[in-house]
Amino acid sequence: MTLIIKRMHPHFFAEVSGVDLATSFGSDILTEVVNAFAEHSVLLFRNQFLDDESQIAFSERIGPLEKNITATFGNSRPEISKISNVNVDGKVLKKGSDDEIFLKGNSVWHTDSSFKVVPALGSALSAREVPPVGGETEFADMRAAYDALDDGKKQLIQDLTSVHSFIYSQRQMNSDGRYNLTAVMSDEELEALPPVQHPMIRVHPESGRKAIYVGRHASHIVGLPIEEGRALIKELNEFATQPEFVYRHHWRTNDLVMWDNRMVMHRGRAYDPKYKRVMHRTTVAGHVENNPWVVRKQVA
Ligand code: OGA
Ligand code: MN
Repeated sequence: MTLIIKRMHPHFFAEVSGVDLATSFGSDILTEVVNAFAEHSVLLFRNQFLDDESQIAFSERIGPLEKNITATFGNSRPEISKISNVNVDGKVLKKGSDDEIFLKGNSVWHTDSSFKVVPALGSALSAREVPPVGGETEFADMRAAYDALDDGKKQLIQDLTSVHSFIYSQRQMNSDGRYNLTAVMSDEELEALPPVQHPMIRVHPESGRKAIYVGRHASHIVGLPIEEGRALIKELNEFATQPEFVYRHHWRTNDLVMWDNRMVMHRGRAYDPKYKRVMHRTTVAGHVENNPWVVRKQVA
């Protein structure tokens, strides 16, 4: 069996058909999926009837999964992150509630768990229930954006590291002072997330392609005055998310999209909160041993 791979954007994002991810398909197919993932950075699989068990089983074939410390949002298993506007009682989250503001953070360009010492390699998002309009997810190809930087900028960021901080990115969501993060996450979870450093350029281990690595969790740049670093991060975020580098995915129920967090950023788009939007994510952990670019040192 050979997969059918259809590229949807000049730089990245391909739709893959010819595989049922809920089955234990052969390792030859898995190799094709992994190769396609390395080439296109984001893969869409339509009509995938996954439950949490089969989603975990498929994702684990890509690599070991990140686990949540506590069962926030009623996640069924520590490997599943519910990205959902529906609370445990089946009701839509109230506008302005802490959970709703937390979820809204996903609408700012980011790369998953860049606030961790070892950030996520990939994420796989399964659409269980989607609004009829809105609620798309946009992806930005950080490899194409890097390639398009002028040489001066490439050199400037070549050896720079930035500080990624969960508390910093959450603080940006608290513009009106009403957001209480500790209502959403336990002290144990928050204490596990001190600021960390990462290079501003990531290198894809297999292809050697370079990508800009910033996003909403990037707070400032090591060795630069805070505001100067912040301005450079903002400039790079804006440069990298120009329309030519962006693909907007319109979800259908039972889509599964998996993306390479090292090579792309993403954000969720708005939708009418009267609609339910239930997405289940598995997150493939990064691995330091294959990625010399991950700086392990934590920042005090
Ligand atoms: C995520 C995420 C955006 C969306 O699952 O990591 O940021 O559109 N999702 O739900
Ligand atoms: Mn995300």
